[in-house]
Amino acid sequence: MSAVNWPDPLSKSKELYDRAAEVMPGGITRILPWQDPFPVYAKSGSGAYVTDVDGTRRLDLLNNFASLIHGHAHPAIVSAVQEQVANGTAFTLPTQPEVALAETICGRVEGFEWVRFSNSGSEAVMCAIKAARAITGRSKIVKAEGVYHGSYDYAEVSLDSSPENWGEDPTSIGYSKGTPEGVKNDVVVIPFNDTEAAERIIRANKDQIAAIIIDPAPSYFGFVPVSQSFIEMIRRVSTEIGAVFILDEVITFRVNRGGAQTRFNIKPDLTVLAKIIGGGFPVGAVVGSRKFMEVFDHRNGKPLLPWSGTFTANPVTMTAGKIALDLYTQADSDRLDVLGDRLRAGVTEAFAKADFPGQVTGFSSMFMVFGHQRTVLDYRSGYSSKEESKLIAKLQKNLVLEGYHIAKTGKAFLSTAMTESDVDGFIAATERAARQAVSQG
Ligand SMILES: Cc1ncc(COP(=O)(O)O)c(C=O)c1O
Repeated sequence: MSAVNWPDPLSKSKELYDRAAEVMPGGITRILPWQDPFPVYAKSGSGAYVTDVDGTRRLDLLNNFASLIHGHAHPAIVSAVQEQVANGTAFTLPTQPEVALAETICGRVEGFEWVRFSNSGSEAVMCAIKAARAITGRSKIVKAEGVYHGSYDYAEVSLDSSPENWGEDPTSIGYSKGTPEGVKNDVVVIPFNDTEAAERIIRANKDQIAAIIIDPAPSYFGFVPVSQSFIEMIRRVSTEIGAVFILDEVITFRVNRGGAQTRFNIKPDLTVLAKIIGGGFPVGAVVGSRKFMEVFDHRNGKPLLPWSGTFTANPVTMTAGKIALDLYTQADSDRLDVLGDRLRAGVTEAFAKADFPGQVTGFSSMFMVFGHQRTVLDYRSGYSSKEESKLIAKLQKNLVLEGYHIAKTGKAFLSTAMTESDVDGFIAATERAARQAVSQG
């Protein structure tokens, strides 16, 4: 570790941030890694660890927000990508790696027959919603309150509603200023896991609904898994009212070789994938049975939904994605379940020892720490006050100083590159960081 380090004003991270602030709004591109007083700038990553520009190595529990299932620079991915880069990075023509990744994805889940790629999860969500509209000829979508489905007006409705505006039944609240009224009117918001209320709200709009989009374990409230009764209702009611059931597995595809749908026996019409299927490169995909995916098929003239993109299915992403998925077996996923349980049990104990008024939630390789101890079942019960969020921000900052990266919001992810000793080190550091956060008031 160098003597000068984050958040030292003489650090290289500070120097880079000063330059960045001259040429980018707020000096950043993504809000997620923003860190007061300035972000830690990464230089390199290897396996479970990332090294910053000042030479400090930390355990990376961010994993580019859940996209690096094998950690950084996995040797097999690096060498295949290097070979592909030397052969060309992007073609207007289709390529073999595109076919190979599509075959790999279809081979992992029973209902996956056809794939359409995009460049990000947000794009794929947008694509799936457009597909549902083209299939049904309707415009409204249903989403759960406080659930993130990417950066897209419709998908963002009621993402951060608060007690001041959320209403008894969830009100449709625009995320950014200037969200068109038409967008809000076309998004029906339901409470996650409240089967009865959600069914009533959906049925009240039944003739106008194109799609119901569900994340089976939303990150915004600590990866609480969807209840069996809720998801069964969504499946049944979607079919009854003629809407398309879209499952957003952008993050949760990691919880089993065949995603959360295999783990929890969910049968959506369309699935949205991204993150781990790109092996560390930008990616997104809509997947489903031929019956629904036919909407993209151009062979009888103009498709019902034309969908394209300059870098879509580029061979670098496709090559990396196939190797990442081939390397991610059921045994890996099972091992991450065990490692995740070890971490959550250890962090729970660490919080108790440190008298830290928080909790850790999640399952499998996903977890989130909260600055409160209320039972989290949905967005409202997970909702943190400003003070509670500040407590987590303090804990996170102390963890950076201890050598661990988690998100400021308390979210984090394991990778197959992590070991029991990495997790035990994190638990010990969490106890110190929590104690410190408590003493910081
Ligand atoms: C559940 C979910 N859906 C969609 C997205 C958007 O994916 P991307 O960031 O690749 O656009 C995310 C990103 O974190 C996500 O967590």
